Amino acid sequence: MTTRRTFTLSTLTLLLAAAAPTAQAQGSGQLNIVCSVQDEWCSMMSSAFAKSSGLKVNVLKRGSGEALAQLIAERANPKIDVWFGGTGDPHLQAAEQDLTLEYKSPSLPQLHSWAQDQAQQSGWRTVGVYSGPLGFGYNTELLAKKKLPVPKCWKDLLSPALRGEVQVANPASSGTAYTMIATIVQLMGEDKAYEYLKGLHKNVSQYTRSGTGPIKAAARGETTVSISFVHDAPGEQMQGFPIATETPCEGTGAEIGSMSIVKGARNLDNAKKFYEWALTPAAQQLGVAAKQFQLPSNKAAPLDARIPDFRKIKFIQYDYAKYGKSSERKRLIDRWEREVNSLPR
Ligand code: G6P
Repeated sequence: MTTRRTFTLSTLTLLLAAAAPTAQAQGSGQLNIVCSVQDEWCSMMSSAFAKSSGLKVNVLKRGSGEALAQLIAERANPKIDVWFGGTGDPHLQAAEQDLTLEYKSPSLPQLHSWAQDQAQQSGWRTVGVYSGPLGFGYNTELLAKKKLPVPKCWKDLLSPALRGEVQVANPASSGTAYTMIATIVQLMGEDKAYEYLKGLHKNVSQYTRSGTGPIKAAARGETTVSISFVHDAPGEQMQGFPIATETPCEGTGAEIGSMSIVKGARNLDNAKKFYEWALTPAAQQLGVAAKQFQLPSNKAAPLDARIPDFRKIKFIQYDYAKYGKSSERKRLIDRWEREVNSLPR
C-alpha cells in the first residue's frame, strides 16, 4: 500500500511556523542553519564547523521547498541564520522575496562560473555550492526480475509496464521535483509537459516529501524506478544496494545547489564565517566524506571519480532566472496540483 501526501506552500508555511526550532537563541556563540542536503552531510558540516569555530551550531533539516516556506513563515522574526544546500530555484525565490541578505563573498572568483552566475542572478543574495544532474534511479534486481527494460528516456517512464513502479517527490516540498517539472516544461513546451506529467502520474506510486526518498526506496526495492539526482546513487551503492542510474536521452536539467544568509539573521557574523568556510575546498570535500557526490563549486576542490561526468550528459539550457521566479514556481506547482496530482490513478 502506498500513501499519497499533498503539500501546498501555504500548508507548509503554517506547519513549519508551528514547528520552528526551540533551541535557537540570540548570542555571539551560536549559529542556526537550515540544511537541505542529506542528513549525513548536514551533520558533518555542522559538527566540523562547530569544531573549527568553537560555536554552538544548531542544524535543522528541511527540503528546499520546505526551507523556503520556513523563511517566509519567519520573515518577521527569523530564527535561521544561514540556509545551506538544496536546489537553487527556491534560493532565487527567497532572494526575490527579500528574505535573504545581499553578501558578495571575497571567495567568488575561486568558484566555477555557474556558481558565480547564480550569485549574480540573485543580486548577490545566494551562491552556488554544488551542481548535479537530474535523471533516473532503478533497482537492477527488481528490473531484471520483472523483465523490464532499463529506462533511458523521459518517454520510457510512460510505459504501461511501469504502472505503480515509479516514485518521485512532491514539487511543493522538494526542489528535486520542481527541477523535474521545470526541466520537462523546457524540453517539451508547457502544455505537452503537463500531458506528459499526467501520463507519468499513472505510473507513480507515491509523491514523497523529500527529493531523496524515491532513490532510497528504489535502492531498498520498495519501488523499481525513481526520478532523482543521479549523484544520490553512489552513496546507496556504497551501502550495497543494487541501484543504477541513467540520464534521459532527450536531455535533462541540473540543479545549482545553493547557500544564502537569512535577512535579519541574529548571528550574522557567524553566518558569514560559516558561508566563507563552506566555500573552501576543504569544507566542500566533506560532501564526499558524507557519501554525497555533487560537483563542488570551488574550482580547487578535488573531484572524486564517483561524481557524475557532466561532459557525458545531454543537458538542456536550463533557464535558472525564469524558473527561479516565485510567480513561475507557484504557477507551475499550482497547475501540477490542479491538473495532475488531483487525478485518480
Ligand atoms: C538531495 C540531493 C541534493 C539536493 C537535495 C534537494 O539531498 O543530494 O543535491 O539539492 O536533495 O532536496 P529536496 O528534498 O528539496 O528535493
